[in-house]
Amino acid sequence: MSNLDWDINSLSLGIIPLDAHHQEIFQYGQKLCAYHEVTDSGFSEALSHFTKAVQIHFKAEAILFEQFKYPRSSKHIQEHTDFLIRIQGISKKLEAFTIDKITRYIEQWFTNHIQQADMDYVRYFEEHKILLSKDFFKTIDVKATSQPRRSMKSKTLPPGKIKSLDEQHREIAKVLAQIKDLRKTGVSEKRSLLLLPKIITMLEECGKYFSYEEEQMEELEYPSKESHLEDHKTFNKKIKSFKTTLTLHQRDISDSILVFLKDWTMNHILKKDREYKAYLHRRGYK
Ligand SMILES: [Fe+2]
Ligand SMILES: [Fe+2]
Ligand SMILES: [Fe+2]
Repeated sequence: MSNLDWDINSLSLGIIPLDAHHQEIFQYGQKLCAYHEVTDSGFSEALSHFTKAVQIHFKAEAILFEQFKYPRSSKHIQEHTDFLIRIQGISKKLEAFTIDKITRYIEQWFTNHIQQADMDYVRYFEEHKILLSKDFFKTIDVKATSQPRRSMKSKTLPPGKIKSLDEQHREIAKVLAQIKDLRKTGVSEKRSLLLLPKIITMLEECGKYFSYEEEQMEELEYPSKESHLEDHKTFNKKIKSFKTTLTLHQRDISDSILVFLKDWTMNHILKKDREYKAYLHRRGYK
């Protein structure tokens, strides 16, 4: 049995009003899953509520395509039409279907459509630097219910905050180069011990950029904020522990720092920071 869960990691477009639509559609879909038989009283009404939410969303996307001259609009709209025709056919011949069959079809269709067709227009907006402002969504009636929804923020962030991500990465790259230098054969432990406190201070400085990044994520309601912040906490803790080890034991820990920074680059900078950067671009920030 399908459960129609809207998963933020695989289904978010990064455009809050449209993500809210998709979530709402999935919620209406979940209500369908709660019935046992298509003949149960209320099921047909629930299916028509679901269809209404879908129609409102499709209309919003069509307006968006027209406004921003999305080139693959007719193919996309055809997919919407085909889906609505199929749902209409199902509603007319309900007894020929099971709830499982209907909800599975809805889940598969939406998952596939969002990940391919919808993501395609997101990429188009991104490539053409189209910023979907809060005002734009106000001009089209995209409300699927009377429930208050989160709005897309169009506030311009101070440029320093956006730049901080690149500055942070440059600093980490500098530290990595210095550490690699220390690892070269012939560098005495004495020299390493002399340079390591300076390197640790540089890493502590990098940690300070995190607060800008975190503030910005909060402001932009970044969906993967929590797991990103967990990584930042781990980074700060790790640097603190390097500092303690160095102060207490005065031993060359450049090897451990190198391993840690390589891992940080692979798993945070190249993955999570990249994802976040793509999100910023989708939201119109450079
Ligand atoms: Fe669509
Ligand atoms: Fe969509
Ligand atoms: Fe980060």
